[in-house]
Amino acid sequence: MHGPRASVRRAEMDDHDLLLALEQDIFPEDPWTPRMLAEELACPFSTYLLAFDKDGECLGYGGVKVVGETTDIMTIGVVTAARGRGFGRFLLAELMRVAHEGGAQSLFLEVRSSNLAARALYAAEGFHQIGVIRRYFRNPVEDAVSMRRDLCEPVSHEPA
Ligand SMILES: CC(C)(COP(=O)(O)OP(=O)(O)OC[C@H]1O[C@@H](n2cnc3c(N)ncnc32)[C@H](O)[C@@H]1OP(=O)(O)O)[C@@H](O)C(=O)NCCC(=O)NCCS
Repeated sequence: MHGPRASVRRAEMDDHDLLLALEQDIFPEDPWTPRMLAEELACPFSTYLLAFDKDGECLGYGGVKVVGETTDIMTIGVVTAARGRGFGRFLLAELMRVAHEGGAQSLFLEVRSSNLAARALYAAEGFHQIGVIRRYFRNPVEDAVSMRRDLCEPVSHEPA
């Protein structure tokens, strides 16, 4: 799938080391381990997408786990140098498209309560807060805000 300034493709097992490097860059305080990433890439319910610019530079990635009518947004991140240019919104829209095509009706996610950028992105894209999970995250320990979005309509955002 292509937007005007970015394209995405599904991540494969061979992308493990690229994803690990992205994870360590984007979530330096609490990155997923190589084993966690390998398990996610092998999971039949999970889809991970990589976003690239027109020169083939990786912009970020995200993943969803579709189980029946429910989908969890597992992660989403844009490399520091590319933030604020619409790629996070683009990736989120692509993840919602995957969920929609997989038959999901509802999307769920957890976000650090202090992560105002991500919370603003999710709110702008139709997610609603449904609760708070105390001390859900580690490194550092922090509450999670749980959010939900119903997928009753297809989504088609692209970078501006
Ligand atoms: C959250 C993240 C994915 C957003 O990606 P991005 O490409 O920078 O965001 P976009 O340019 O697509 O912005 C989309 C919307 O997000 C919100 N947003 C993005 N950055 C923001 C910031 N610094 N402050 C407040 N709101 C912000 C805005 O609502 C923005 O819409 P607008 O530009 O119309 O105001 C990115 O900041 C990131 O990778 N952060 C580190 C990893 C992370 O926290 N992931 C989420 C884990 S739950």
